[in-house]
Amino acid sequence: MPPLREVFFLKCVKNLIFCAICLCVFVSTAASADINLPKPLKSGGMGVFSAIENRASGTRGAFPAGAISDEELSTILWAAAGKNRNGDGWTVPTAGGLSPYAVVYVVMKDSAYLYDPEANKLIGVTNGNVINNVTNDNFVKKAPVVLVFVSSTDSLGAMGKLNEGNALAYNITGAMAQNAYLACESLKISARYMVSMNADGVNKVLKLKKGHIPVAILPLGKR
Ligand SMILES: Cc1cc2nc3c(=O)[nH]c(=O)nc-3n(C[C@H](O)[C@H](O)[C@H](O)COP(=O)(O)O)c2cc1C
Repeated sequence: MPPLREVFFLKCVKNLIFCAICLCVFVSTAASADINLPKPLKSGGMGVFSAIENRASGTRGAFPAGAISDEELSTILWAAAGKNRNGDGWTVPTAGGLSPYAVVYVVMKDSAYLYDPEANKLIGVTNGNVINNVTNDNFVKKAPVVLVFVSSTDSLGAMGKLNEGNALAYNITGAMAQNAYLACESLKISARYMVSMNADGVNKVLKLKKGHIPVAILPLGKR
């Protein structure tokens, strides 16, 4: 029979290993802390006609991976899905002026957030190596920020329960992405609208509710 001290020592080691495993599991599934975004830029920049003239998707072969500042991210998110007209309207047209029926998630290398347009903040969803779950494309994995547009038809009420609810969500995602492209052009940031993604991975890491469907992703990178 081993001496009592040895048994006690082994028990301590076992407990420590158990705690370390629990901590790892907790850290890898915990939500990232929320981030308050700086105010978006609402004036200056490139004229809208020049932005329309110059807009182009970043190429798959040479997609830039430059960092994007919080102010730039705030500006792109605001352009895509924010409030305008002193908080009375949305930057994209919505059916009946309702809240947008697609929401925007922000995936970074090791964290993911939901954009809250009313509070201009990022609500932490998860951390860990999320980017590898969202896409199989290497150039997307290297992008500092990937926006994920997800249908969220709750604000449509009864209309959202019909099939047209998701059709409307696809529709508004196009408007959001185009606004984001134009803001990106003004900020010298490349974007690429993509329907190819790992939808199961997106569902898992963003913990999407039933009926919320990933529509498209938009990797971003500073040129
Ligand atoms: C509905 C839609 C789906 C797209 N899906 C993908 C995609 O899955 N993968 C990709 O690399 N590009 C995708 N693209 C980007 C287009 O390939 C790109 O916009 C096209 O080459 C035209 O280039 P431009 O945006 O510079 O004009 C998609 C674009 C649209 C409009």
